[in-house]
Amino acid sequence: MVDSTTSIRMVNKKLIVPNQVTIPFISGDGIGPDVTAATQSVVNTAIDKAYQFERKIIWKEVLAGEKAFHQTGEWLPQETLNAFSDYIVGIKGPLTTPVGGGIRSLNVALRKDLDLYVCLRPVRYFQGINAPVKHPEIVDVTIFRENTEDVYSGIELEADSQESKMFLDWLQLQLPDSYQKIRFPRSVGLGIKPISKEGSLRLIQAAIEYAIRNRKPTITLIHKGNIMKFTEGAFRLWGYDLAESEYKDFIYTSRQFENTKKNAGITEANKEKEWALSNGRIWMNDVITDAAFQNLLLYPQDFSVIATSNLNGDYLSDALAAQVGGIGISPGANINYQTGIAIFEATHGTAPDIAGKNLANPSSLILSSVLMLEYLGWNEAAKLITKSLEKTINNGQLTRDLAQFVIGSTLMSTSEFATAIINNF
Ligand code: NAI
Repeated sequence: MVDSTTSIRMVNKKLIVPNQVTIPFISGDGIGPDVTAATQSVVNTAIDKAYQFERKIIWKEVLAGEKAFHQTGEWLPQETLNAFSDYIVGIKGPLTTPVGGGIRSLNVALRKDLDLYVCLRPVRYFQGINAPVKHPEIVDVTIFRENTEDVYSGIELEADSQESKMFLDWLQLQLPDSYQKIRFPRSVGLGIKPISKEGSLRLIQAAIEYAIRNRKPTITLIHKGNIMKFTEGAFRLWGYDLAESEYKDFIYTSRQFENTKKNAGITEANKEKEWALSNGRIWMNDVITDAAFQNLLLYPQDFSVIATSNLNGDYLSDALAAQVGGIGISPGANINYQTGIAIFEATHGTAPDIAGKNLANPSSLILSSVLMLEYLGWNEAAKLITKSLEKTINNGQLTRDLAQFVIGSTLMSTSEFATAIINNF
């Protein structure tokens, strides 16, 4: 039974959040229970402190992963999916992907079944963390990765299978020019990469709305459209079309500029960007994926909000997190901005090597809970946690994964680290 007095509602595309709110959570496998307990204690104390006990999260455990399998015989019970759609906002620890037996990844299943089309990955530097680049503090980028399409849709035909033979025969007959392009047609495995207009538009729209709401200066569409014109290239075109038609009072695009000034040099383009920014417009441009990896390293200050397709986003979010030394502490969320349903999550895995040892770094889930509090509009509690986490890390109070690289740091267990954050509020 859903408790309607404590559940979030979506009215006219806005979340209505009661002061006492039920949040379903998946504790997760491996280090999941350790980082979940740490996160809940930090979040509960921050809310008490920020709102003097007027607001409260009622945590409701729902099952997935190994715990679900042992208790119910299912890896992802329908009840869990129902709880996330009924209560709208939830949070999860990492889950084991069962190997073999044709069981799909639980994370992918949650995203697909609840149609959580945005994977949100903000990346920033925390002073005191050992990073591999000279100026990690310049990085402040929010990635909007499309979550439901692209090669992740799982349409693949195995080499030499009946299915691939049927498909290749059809291709040879119906589209002989395309068939000719396959170098070794009789031993080829095939993958299909669907990227739709609807899927691209809703993702890019979410990135645009986020940039407007948070006064971000730029939106960059990252794609490999020079090679894949009708999927990645179309993603770019649909993005520009949307910005230029629906958001023309807010955004100025590099395509608009190029259309008016053919043969303009890079200096002129930079001037145009400055003009857009000084006139309160967001500058939207696009960068091809390989150049984006290079430019994010060389000129991270040129990137603020990124909208990209699924596979590009997968690579980019981990590479960028590594750039600031934050691969283990980056937060993430999977969101459907139309239904409001959102699941905030640790981005690392279950770390079986340190499971149950109170050694894990809970920062990824703690920072994901910050994103969740912001999503609920509980910004004061979110700020309290962020500031305190910054202070704790900067003090050199670190869990083992980070402490081993920082001379003079104080080594902390998972629970000690959570207590340090609370003490630093
Ligand atoms: P992993 O992220 O669990 O571990 C990689 C390395 O990072 C290990 O040495 C681990 O000890 C360390 N590590 C990870 N998180 C840490 C933390 N919070 N604090 C300190 N050290 C940490 O990746 P792996 O080994 O590839 O995957 C293990 C399991 O996790 C697999 O079943 C995989 O499917 C699952 N997984 C689940 C994810 C999710 O639920 N979102 C994401 C990635 C993997």
